[in-house]
This record gives sequence, structure tokens and C-alpha cells, in this order.
Amino acid sequence: MSINLLNLAYFSPTGTTRKILESIATGIAPAMTEFTDLSAAGAELCFDQKQPELAIIGMPTYAGRIPPEGANLLKRFLLHFFELNPAGKNFTFVATIF
Ligand SMILES: Cc1cc2nc3c(=O)[nH]c(=O)nc-3n(C[C@H](O)[C@H](O)[C@H](O)COP(=O)(O)O)c2cc1C
Repeated sequence: MSINLLNLAYFSPTGTTRKILESIATGIAPAMTEFTDLSAAGAELCFDQKQPELAIIGMPTYAGRIPPEGANLLKRFLLHFFELNPAGKNFTFVATIF
């Protein structure tokens, strides 16, 4: 499958989740990659500006769960998933434990 636009969205306070998503992206070899850093203050998980063909969302595991900031971003995104993605785009979710 050839991907034109891939979006890597990650909540990654110490950078490992981002590195893992970048490695996955290398394997996918899309024409273009956009990055959404969810660790930045005020960041939102939202793809309605420019629809990627594939989005990979990565969150780490801290103390047995996704950190509350990341979980809240994910909840808000999932509440609007079908509204934001009427064409049924592909989303992949990765939780890092490395
Ligand atoms: C304080 C702390 C708590 C962690 N708790 C867990 C855990 O409960 N389970 C787990 O599998 N990994 C745990 N980890 C490992 C992290 O999930 C792993 O290092 C992750 O890749 C960090 O992601 P990030 O570099 O993108 O922030 C913990 C790491 C830290 C620093």
C-alpha cells in the first residue's frame, strides 16, 4: 500500500514513543510525513485541517496507564472521530512500554 500523507501524533515526554513512531514511518515510507507533538502545551489531537491517509497515534505507559494528559487528548479525539473522519480514514494506535 502506498501512502501519500502520514501523520505521526505522539504524546512523548521523554522521546521514546516518537522514536518508535519514526521507525514505523520509515518502514511505511510515505511521500510526506507530518508530526503532531501532543506533549506541547495546548496541543490537540485533530486532523481536520489536512486529512492524512494514515495517522499513527502513540502514547507511553506510565504507572500502568496512559498519562492523564494523553488519555484526555485521546478521549476528546475519539468523541469526534466520525465527525472528523467521515471518509473512514485509517488510524493506528501504538502504546510504548520500552
Ligand atoms: C515514571 C515511569 C513510569 C513508567 N511506568 C511504566 C509502566 O507502568 N509500564 C510500562 O510498561 N512501562 C512503564 N514505563 C516505561 C515507559 O512507558 C517507556 O519508557 C516509554 O517508552 C516512555 O515513553 P516516552 O519516552 O515517549 O515518554 C515507565 C517509565 C517511567 C519513567
